[in-house]
Amino acid sequence: MQRLLERYPPAREHLLEMLHDLQDQNPQHYLSDDAMAAVASYLGLTLSDVKGTASFYSMFSFAPRGRHIIRICASPPCQLLGATTIQAKLREKLHVAVGETTADGAFTLETTSCLGVCGVAPAMMIDDEVYGNLTPERIEVIIDKMRREDEAS
Ligand code: FES
Repeated sequence: MQRLLERYPPAREHLLEMLHDLQDQNPQHYLSDDAMAAVASYLGLTLSDVKGTASFYSMFSFAPRGRHIIRICASPPCQLLGATTIQAKLREKLHVAVGETTADGAFTLETTSCLGVCGVAPAMMIDDEVYGNLTPERIEVIIDKMRREDEAS
């Protein structure tokens, strides 16, 4: 963790980048108290300064999440084109509510605002990859494929 922090000059303007990096390198995709305390110490801030800033941004999580983060778009264009059905399919397929992680720790289901690909609505993002023109059938295929790939790795 220290090595990651030392990539940045110890200045508050790098706080968000540091928090992003720390969350990305955590296999459970969240900011632990230890990580935030390390940033605070490195930047000469208090832990509550760092937590207060991080809690302002929805992209940071403070609880462990799955190996894969699914973000289903909840903005109006996707809603109009079936995102509600897609979200219901994901909840049924994964046996989780929005905000929850599957029992095996593989997937966390979240919502997001517009992903910038309204032309292929309804859309979702899994980790760094965007999926558009979603149908319940495609959800089956995508999730089953990811599970197979996880098992093989
Ligand atoms: S509204 Fe869903 S991608 Fe833009």
